Amino acid sequence: MEAFEVKKDVWWVGTVDWVCRNFHGYTTSQRGTTYNAFLIKDEKNVLIDTVKSEYGPKMLCNIAHVMEPEKVDYIVVNHLEQDHSGALSLLVEKTQPEKIFCSTMGAKNIQKIYPQSKDWPIVPVKTGDSISIGSRTLTFVELRMMHWPDNMGTYVSEDKLFISSDAFGQNWATSEKFADEVDRSEFTRLLRRYYNNIIMPYSPMVLKKLDEIEKMNIEIDMILPDHGLLIRGDDVPNVLNEYRELALQKPKKKAVIVYDTMWHSTEKMANAVASGLAEKGISVKLFYLKANNHSDVMEEVWDAGAVIVGSPTHNNGIMPRVADCLTYMKGLRPQKKIGAAIGSFGWSGESVNILTEHLKNMGMDTPVDPIKVQYVPDHEILKKCVEMGRTLADAIIAKVEE
Ligand code: FEO
Repeated sequence: MEAFEVKKDVWWVGTVDWVCRNFHGYTTSQRGTTYNAFLIKDEKNVLIDTVKSEYGPKMLCNIAHVMEPEKVDYIVVNHLEQDHSGALSLLVEKTQPEKIFCSTMGAKNIQKIYPQSKDWPIVPVKTGDSISIGSRTLTFVELRMMHWPDNMGTYVSEDKLFISSDAFGQNWATSEKFADEVDRSEFTRLLRRYYNNIIMPYSPMVLKKLDEIEKMNIEIDMILPDHGLLIRGDDVPNVLNEYRELALQKPKKKAVIVYDTMWHSTEKMANAVASGLAEKGISVKLFYLKANNHSDVMEEVWDAGAVIVGSPTHNNGIMPRVADCLTYMKGLRPQKKIGAAIGSFGWSGESVNILTEHLKNMGMDTPVDPIKVQYVPDHEILKKCVEMGRTLADAIIAKVEE
């Protein structure tokens, strides 16, 4: 996509990555992504963020559409992660900026990623610091741990623009530019998926930062995140509210069942638990881990009241995909959940105890005993699994009504 004007003299000069499916090596981006970067034309021309290294030449073309790259005076590095700083060396070389602004944590860490930056004109800034670039003032807001220590936002008061780094991003490659031009439910799904797979562990900090932004009493006409669609008009308060909801993780009448299976025994048990939950009005999301990625699971966990995990015993342990999913889930620190375990076994049967330990280590309540079965579940075991679903449903409803 070519450069376009977001507001008068504020240009998008990023790139669209239509092919990206592996995002940062740990999550998936089903619909590609974008690396948004912005160029503000004023007495001092300012470039805010760059793109992944391989897209550097394309970004230079986009800048050249607006002005000669040599005319860039300042670069703002809102975030050091390589999807936004990968083209920084190229941009510094081409533009020879007078100053490069980044957060204090960014200044502390930049040489560990780019040793050549020791010769760059780095200026560390903290929350509330402002610079005048002519007719505009840029004010910096540290967004520490949203999701790296160095994340920062840049507010342009005259245009009421908040350039928000990773916060409020979505992985979605589109030819449309603004969230109000695309399917609403898909936008919300991808905003949530991004949060739940990347920002969720820092939810307490997100709540504090949202309060801080609210207290600053700044007017925001547009939020410009570093990934996906730009946000304007009514969508601004909507995404701020959405982030608050995501960070609060208030449980709903919903359960996630995640399992792997060898000869379908654990799968039959998972389906029986799902029946018991659904019978009592709980919305169930069932994930077979050979058909779903751990990121698909996490898209649904944030507002679930319960997480039920199933694995047969395999070599005295649990199935590898279940171990992967639980490790990933633990890192994302889901809150306010009930947990339960099920699983079949052939001759040793350790899986359900291992699963229960994992759930407890995540701080989940485990109000029901795990269910295990040797080889194949019979009618009686499946009835027990349905009953487990009903009991968990009552516990979820009690939690929702707390
Ligand atoms: Fe979009 Fe933390 O990088």
